[in-house]
Amino acid sequence: MSSDFKSILTENRLFEPSAEFKSKARISSMEDYQRLHAESLNDPDTFWTREASELTWQQPWTKVLDWQPPFAKWFVDAKLNVSENCVDRHVAAGKGDKPAILWEGEPGDTRTISYAELQTEVATFAAVLLNHGIKAGDRVIIYMPMVPEAAIAMLATARIGAVHSVIFGGFSSESIKDRLLDSGATAVITADGGYRRGKVVPLKDNVDTALKNAPHVTTVIVLKRTGQNIAMQEGRDAWWHDETAKVTEGAPANGFDSEHPLFILYTSGSTGKPKGILHTSGGYLTGTYVSSKYIFDLREDDVYWCTADVGWITGHSYIVFGPLSNGATILMYEGAPDTPHQGRFWEIVEKYKVSILYTAPTAIRAFIKWGDDHVDKFDLSSLRLLGSVGEPINPEAWMWYHHKIGGGRCPIVDTWWQTETGSILITPLPGVTPTKPGTATLPFFGVDAAILDEDGKEVGPNEGGKLVIRKPWPSMLRTLYGDNDRYKEVYWSTYENIYLAGDSARRDDDGYFWIMGRIDDVLNVSGHRLGTAEVESALVSHESVAEAAVVGRPDELKGQAVVAFVTVKGGVDPTPELAAALKKHVANVIGAIARPDDIRFAAGLPKTRSGKIMRRLLKEICAGGVIKGDTTTLEDLNVIASLQASGKDED
Ligand code: WTA
Repeated sequence: MSSDFKSILTENRLFEPSAEFKSKARISSMEDYQRLHAESLNDPDTFWTREASELTWQQPWTKVLDWQPPFAKWFVDAKLNVSENCVDRHVAAGKGDKPAILWEGEPGDTRTISYAELQTEVATFAAVLLNHGIKAGDRVIIYMPMVPEAAIAMLATARIGAVHSVIFGGFSSESIKDRLLDSGATAVITADGGYRRGKVVPLKDNVDTALKNAPHVTTVIVLKRTGQNIAMQEGRDAWWHDETAKVTEGAPANGFDSEHPLFILYTSGSTGKPKGILHTSGGYLTGTYVSSKYIFDLREDDVYWCTADVGWITGHSYIVFGPLSNGATILMYEGAPDTPHQGRFWEIVEKYKVSILYTAPTAIRAFIKWGDDHVDKFDLSSLRLLGSVGEPINPEAWMWYHHKIGGGRCPIVDTWWQTETGSILITPLPGVTPTKPGTATLPFFGVDAAILDEDGKEVGPNEGGKLVIRKPWPSMLRTLYGDNDRYKEVYWSTYENIYLAGDSARRDDDGYFWIMGRIDDVLNVSGHRLGTAEVESALVSHESVAEAAVVGRPDELKGQAVVAFVTVKGGVDPTPELAAALKKHVANVIGAIARPDDIRFAAGLPKTRSGKIMRRLLKEICAGGVIKGDTTTLEDLNVIASLQASGKDED
């Protein structure tokens, strides 16, 4: 496996979209991409007016953009209803019978919801919210399993102009409480429980604990999913099915201002205290609509599956708002990829004839570890396009995804974006861009991406620097909820009127963007910049390695030493010989500068619930083992204990 590996520093394998894919794609030539991209930057009014006009607006805009840095208003004075755009307009266009949501529960129960049914459910639940006194602008927490009602609740709050804040169903009551207090939410929509790896997650119990000190919450609506006993507080708690049964007429889809808040989403705690990212209506919907259309090349007969949870931005933008505003058929799956067996995803792809699959490198690495047997049992020939999101994809994982899942025929869109950006900003276009394993390639329409040095100068090819966006884009965050100062400080204080993404990156000779990691994850070893992602890719390319995380440890001589936490594949012995071999391997793949000083074998790596490795914790372990700071998003605290216990250097 490692013999044909090229480090992402020298990766130059090129994969052109097939003639077959190109012939049907919406955009199929580099010239068209370049022409449209230039138009989107030089004449944004024309570009965005044309694109946004495909959506339904109840009142037109007077101006496309009002930019008072760092505050943007898009589609000024326009009015729209986001839920109308995601649901009603497709029914009005005669697509009422088309499946909107195909759903599979973890235990194997299924549902198909047509656009007409979705319209009824959304309008009905919106009426429930109105009946409970929830008004436009009120904040509503949604804490649900991956069931259709999660999407229905999001669309219903949007329908009445309420502002939802979805909390991932894996979060604890402590996290709910923090978000509840920060957002000032007065209502919570939840379920009795949800299924995860065969167990029931006690969602309502968690809400009850969080609400002990939150008397401002006056309404809790509970969906019956798992059926176990839960406490219902008189006057505050009501069942979803009882409340919807009382509704005689669904809520109308009135228009709201384009800048009316749509949702607050708290970012994962991998970089400290969660930030309440605020997104608004017209620009966000336009951004997710346009990006879904071009990047996933959505067509009428596609079955589109994004495996994220709706609790993350990927679920917001690319399960709910983007695909549904395009009138696509989406698949939702409630459970874990290894329940009841490690081939569950591939079984689902075969069963529903999924044509577009959008998942994350962390999942792909797990599939590799579980072995090809689980994949080989199923027919994946329905797939035509694959996507990746969330972290840099290791070239080896990319190659496996390409060959094993995509059968060598599916373009892979490696999409770079953030909770803050609302929609994908750097990505291949599947019918256009020749891809290379490990790079998100080129900026999407409207995106003026660049890499700057400390002084704000654009760096040359192959030089590392800070990834920035120099022009506002429609789906950008508008602020951090209730904290304009922190918004300015975090994103706009490094360079004047330029958005700091917080990632380091470089561009290669073709102008492709290679994300090296978060700014704090970039090491400086003997004066050389080294991306943690690059060292990790090298380690993962070794046949014995399942997963690796690299952090810096202060070093007197070099500034920083490289410490690699490594998990090995099943059946491999984590011996000192293997550690030595891995150091040598990294030195071979990237260069001696990247040779890890320490290899620490571990049974698991500490991850946020969204699957991001918490390097901050690893750094703290390296620095002496006392864990400070926020661990509320950590998947498994035992991992930390075992890392600390076993944390002796190899040499
Ligand atoms: C990282 C997830 C490399 C990056 C949509 C970013 C990526 C952070 C990619 C945002 C990618 C996301 N290649 N890195 N394709 N996609 N990232 O807010 O560091 O959960 O800043 O949004 O994930 O994470 P977030």
